[in-house]
Amino acid sequence: MKRFPTLTISNHPLIQHKLAYIRDKTTPKKVFKELMDEVSTLLAYEITKNLPVRAVQVETPLQTTTCHVIDVDKVVLVPLLRAGLGLVEGVLKLIPSCAVCHVGLYRDHETLEPQTYYFKPMSSPEERMFIMVDPMLATGGSAIASADLLKKNGAKNIKFMCLVAAPEGVEAFQHAHPDVEIYAAALDDGLNESAYILPGLGDAGDRLFGTQ
Ligand code: URA
Repeated sequence: MKRFPTLTISNHPLIQHKLAYIRDKTTPKKVFKELMDEVSTLLAYEITKNLPVRAVQVETPLQTTTCHVIDVDKVVLVPLLRAGLGLVEGVLKLIPSCAVCHVGLYRDHETLEPQTYYFKPMSSPEERMFIMVDPMLATGGSAIASADLLKKNGAKNIKFMCLVAAPEGVEAFQHAHPDVEIYAAALDDGLNESAYILPGLGDAGDRLFGTQ
């Protein structure tokens, strides 16, 4: 029995190669952002492998043939603000017309509960596939709250893409959302006392936006 049945780690050499440079603390901001874009494109390829397709008739220069297309308006990309923004462009390279539905959460200082400060619900959520994106699955708190929010608004089909996952976060997320598959580039060792992932890559948002 797999320890984390809902987790898929992509061991593709290109993803692992790029992740090595993303982790490297000497990688400059510009390159960090470009590599994150590239890895998110590669992970998007994996995460969309079971998207339903529909048959259409296409006329080639020679004859009519049956082809298969996806319904791009059924795919919704959900970046968790702010670091999730770093994974948006890479997915849009593959599915340029999918909707982008941002989720903004903060932690209430007193209750420590996640509070929503930005969310615009989609129409017909039950017909769509939502791909949540956040580079780091650390404690799982914001990912769990975001999936809760999507489900409360009617989402039935959710996937979660991250670069680096901590076992603590995967455990918590799969307990809260056993129906949501997680796709990651790496499963790391664990969290430190400040909830940073080890070995990790540091603060993804700060490295993306140069706010260290
Ligand atoms: N968020 C980050 O950006 N990095 C971590 O290591 C954990 C959470």
